[in-house]
Amino acid sequence: MKIFLDTADLGEIRRAADAGLIDGVTTNPSLVAKVGGGRDITELYREICEAVDGPVSLEVIAVDRETMVSEGRKLAAIHENAVVKVPLTEDGLKACRDLVKEGHRVNVTLCFSVSQALLAAKAGASYVSPFVGRIDDVSGEGMQLIHQIRQIYDNYGYETEILAASIRHPMHVVEAMLIGADCCTIPSGVLWQLSKHPLTDKGLDAFLKDWGGLGTTL
Ligand code: E4P
Repeated sequence: MKIFLDTADLGEIRRAADAGLIDGVTTNPSLVAKVGGGRDITELYREICEAVDGPVSLEVIAVDRETMVSEGRKLAAIHENAVVKVPLTEDGLKACRDLVKEGHRVNVTLCFSVSQALLAAKAGASYVSPFVGRIDDVSGEGMQLIHQIRQIYDNYGYETEILAASIRHPMHVVEAMLIGADCCTIPSGVLWQLSKHPLTDKGLDAFLKDWGGLGTTL
């Protein structure tokens, strides 16, 4: 399963890329707003694309088909890693189809139902982003949606990749992997949480303490 980092923070992206742990990045307008104040956003996007060897989702701001397509063309022109992100609306699906016909890759975002995911695949999206955590937040079952999308995509051979999004904790990542999501986009904090286990820390402390008794170095 591919791991994408869900952030526009260049420091976080470089830290994870340096460890060789990420396959791409996803951004959204809220994430960019956190770090982009006073910055040239096109330049920020270019630096993010250069920091990672893989797809970087950059989202349109327009809500009508025509403007989404023209924004999408601009975003795609920033870097070969750029993937245009559009919302899962009627106009977004039409813009997706238009951009795909021009040879661009599209991530259809803000997916909350299996019927929406079906239409994203029909529109030729490279990725669909179901928002697991936000469904859980309103007492739904986000992972159930990932299950259902996996099933319909497999039933009919759709090649759109399921990009599990709105990930809140390590078990979301584990469950998405068990179901067979193609990718998971995760915040930096959750990425590093994946590496943690108290028995690892305890075991290491004991090893180092015992070695200390030898009074020597390697
Ligand atoms: C997906 O691409 C979005 O950027 C993201 O996963 C949204 O997550 P949130 O619900 O934590 O804002």
